[in-house]
Amino acid sequence: MKRWLLLALWTSLGLWACSRDRDLPEPYRLLEVPSGRLGSAEARENGRTLFAAACAFCHGEKADGHGARRENFTRPPRDFTSPAWRRQTTPRRVFFAIREGVHGTPMPAWKSFSETETWDLVAYVLTAGEDHR
Ligand code: HEC
Repeated sequence: MKRWLLLALWTSLGLWACSRDRDLPEPYRLLEVPSGRLGSAEARENGRTLFAAACAFCHGEKADGHGARRENFTRPPRDFTSPAWRRQTTPRRVFFAIREGVHGTPMPAWKSFSETETWDLVAYVLTAGEDHR
């Protein structure tokens, strides 16, 4: 009996993790996340370089939301170093936001980056907090 309860618990936890990406549009919801690449130092370094060049003037040099260009924004840029933010997002959601932009905010869509470059940006954004603890 106990074993069934445990099994049910793990199954529902698994479903919950998947369901966090369920509201994303089709190509993004089904994206294969390159976990190996995401965890690599190379991806993170490359992401950091791209971020400094293309994103820091809004999102801040330290990715903490304090860029030079943030006045008069309808929504201020997110603090990517926040553990709370990191917990409630997923790699696919971050990829989606970069590729498609965030409607109703000044966040543009970045289609000029290759898929690998976009994942590298995801790798950096999701670990930005670790630099500045
Ligand atoms: C013109 C200013 C601007 C630039 C440049 C910019 N962003 Fe944004 N970005 C925003 C704003 C404003 C938002 C909406 C508020 C928020 O969620 O941070 C946003 C949202 C996001 C989000 C979604 C955050 C969330 O809560 O899910 C991600 C991820 C993101 N930006 C990454 C990037 C990356 C990576 C780059 C560089 C390739 C970039 N942004 C460039 C202004 C900018």
